[in-house]
Amino acid sequence: MSCFRFLSCNKVDSRTGSTSEVDEEISGIHNVKLFSYKELKAVTEDFSEANKIGEGGFGAVYKGRLKGGKIAAIKVLSAESRQGVKEFLTEINVISEIEHENLVKLYGCCVQSNQRILVYNYLENNSLAQTLLGGNRSNIQFSWQTRYRICIGVGRGLAYLHEEVQPHIVHRDIKASNILLDKDLTPKISDFGLAKLIPDNATHVSTRVAGTLGYLAPEYAIGGRLTRKADVYSFGVLLVEIVSGRCNTNTRLPPEEQYLLERTWELYERKELVGLVDTSLNGDFDAEEACKFLKIGLLCTQDNPKRRPSMSTVVKLLTGEIGVNDNKISKPALISDFMDLKVRGPPTSAETKSTSYNVTSSSDNRGNSTLSSSGASTSGTMTNSAVYDQSF
Ligand SMILES: Nc1ncnc2c1ncn2[C@@H]1O[C@H](COP(=O)(O)OP(=O)(O)OP(=O)(O)O)[C@@H](O)[C@H]1O
Ligand SMILES: [Mg+2]
Repeated sequence: MSCFRFLSCNKVDSRTGSTSEVDEEISGIHNVKLFSYKELKAVTEDFSEANKIGEGGFGAVYKGRLKGGKIAAIKVLSAESRQGVKEFLTEINVISEIEHENLVKLYGCCVQSNQRILVYNYLENNSLAQTLLGGNRSNIQFSWQTRYRICIGVGRGLAYLHEEVQPHIVHRDIKASNILLDKDLTPKISDFGLAKLIPDNATHVSTRVAGTLGYLAPEYAIGGRLTRKADVYSFGVLLVEIVSGRCNTNTRLPPEEQYLLERTWELYERKELVGLVDTSLNGDFDAEEACKFLKIGLLCTQDNPKRRPSMSTVVKLLTGEIGVNDNKISKPALISDFMDLKVRGPPTSAETKSTSYNVTSSSDNRGNSTLSSSGASTSGTMTNSAVYDQSF
């Protein structure tokens, strides 16, 4: 009898690969569906290249059909991203309770042995980074109406995270690759709640954040001050990208046009904002509405975080429930104003050691740039040790 009790107390759970001591720790976690590693391995054909749909800073993403028929995007978190089962499940428990039309649904996760895998609803039409801004332009036609719906959908999803979910969630990584599109081109924000899953000392974090440089509010990138208003800034950059159909940084353009926000401000001052709207629309758009969206982008990216509207106000501005007051628009905050930051080609070997903050860019075949950190000293404030501030 006692032998049985001993065995049962320490039995390995086939889903968590853990002992019942760990099971006890996670017994308070009710809402998370736990997948076994065996099942996820089977549905992705042993995490094969053929089933791989992408790779980001957190790790690789695979497609697979789950038991029951649902298609899932299976994100295998990289080694640095792995934290203890309890901490991990506590965060996952929060994320998996969140449901909104404009947020990617988390089905569950796998925490077997040292694996940390997230299982999401699969979105058929990839991300805005690949379809609207990507080098391999997809077949999707982004009409003005579609862009309008996408902007408002993303705004609503973010407003929900900021203002409806308790405690509020600061996304921290709003950018085109984290906006996925379903079969009807309804936008869904992905990767919310993940920031807290990454241990502070994870080495890839600074590189990931640097890869997002053009979206980062300066007070967060430089001061580490993370508030909902930092997300509003990133949303503003995204909004301008969607209307203009180009990335926030494009080093193939003439110098005065390389930085999208700078360009937007310049055209705003010259009352020529309409010149920024994506030429691939062939003039088939509501010019007044498109310029209004660009102005809202400027409102969101203002230097002083307090001047930026809340996301629920942004949605009202976008839908026309509130009018845009030009007097409220001030110059955008640009990270390049705050640092000796130059986007340029890969450094020569002589250069690599000399610059304290080295940011390089790689361009795709439309000239859209991805910034990445090549310096050793980028990590200082650009990690997720940011200060959370709920005061806004
Ligand atoms: N739920 C999903 N449905 C369909 N495709 C997805 C899904 N989640 C991710 N992907 C694909 O996998 C790619 C990699 O996603 P991932 O979130 O790991 O990286 P990222 O968003 O590109 O960069 P980062 O890690 O910096 O956020 C995405 O660009 C997208 O193409
Ligand atoms: Mg992502």
